[in-house]
Amino acid sequence: MIIAFVQTKGGTGKSTLAQNIAFSKKIRAAFGSISIVEMDPQKTLYKWWQRRVENQKPSTDVGFAHISSTDRSVILKELEALETENELLVLDVPGESIGKFHTQFACAVADLVLIPMRTSTNDEEAFEDNLLPIINRIMALDPESRDYFYIVPSFTHPLVNRQHVIEYFQHILPDTIHCLDATFSFGSVFENFSRGGSNLFEYADSVRTNQKLYEQAIKAINEIETIAEAIIQLR
Ligand SMILES: Nc1ncnc2c1ncn2[C@@H]1O[C@H](COP(=O)(O)OP(=O)(O)OP(=O)(O)O)[C@@H](O)[C@H]1O
Ligand SMILES: [Mg+2]
Repeated sequence: MIIAFVQTKGGTGKSTLAQNIAFSKKIRAAFGSISIVEMDPQKTLYKWWQRRVENQKPSTDVGFAHISSTDRSVILKELEALETENELLVLDVPGESIGKFHTQFACAVADLVLIPMRTSTNDEEAFEDNLLPIINRIMALDPESRDYFYIVPSFTHPLVNRQHVIEYFQHILPDTIHCLDATFSFGSVFENFSRGGSNLFEYADSVRTNQKLYEQAIKAINEIETIAEAIIQLR
């Protein structure tokens, strides 16, 4: 199975969600072997993974691959090879690329497309102008893909009523775009956890003696697991 985090708008949480969903306990229990696949030439996750290796972070059933090619057939081949070794591929797709190539590619090959999106007028307009036309084209070519596209409300206020945010998106989105039954709220943990190549669990362990930071980390873990559960429900 291929899950892709896609959003033409930059900085909405694609890479952060890809990192954390791949390592979530529920996803790891549901899928035997997993690989994060970064398609972003910025190499954000590649550098993070290098730090994991340098700092000898414990190896798990989660692997990593960076695909730098922009040749469709080369990428397809690399993905096929990764698919034979992994039950789940989690694609981190760049926000911008020439002709929105990566976004189009990922929307076409993924079994589930997760679209982190903020409740901001700018983001909603950008979605309508840039991403929705791509999705509509894919749905026209492949009617079955109508079930594949889900918004993940991101950077939501931690105290906001989750259900209200989900209902808001369902209200403003066309019927063909669904909303995940979970939100990804704003939290400083998500800005800090990956230092030194850590994942969220390793970060939580490292702040165990600081009650405030530890509680925040556990909250962040619980939130990721809720998102993971919502994803697994769609399988
Ligand atoms: N839930 C969150 N709360 C607070 N900060 C976050 C959260 N998720 C991500 N961030 C921070 O916001 C920034 C953008 O996140 P991220 O890199 O995941 O977005 P992106 O969609 O992958 O961006 P790009 O389009 O550039 O690839 C990063 O600095 C990240 O640490
Ligand atoms: Mg990114």
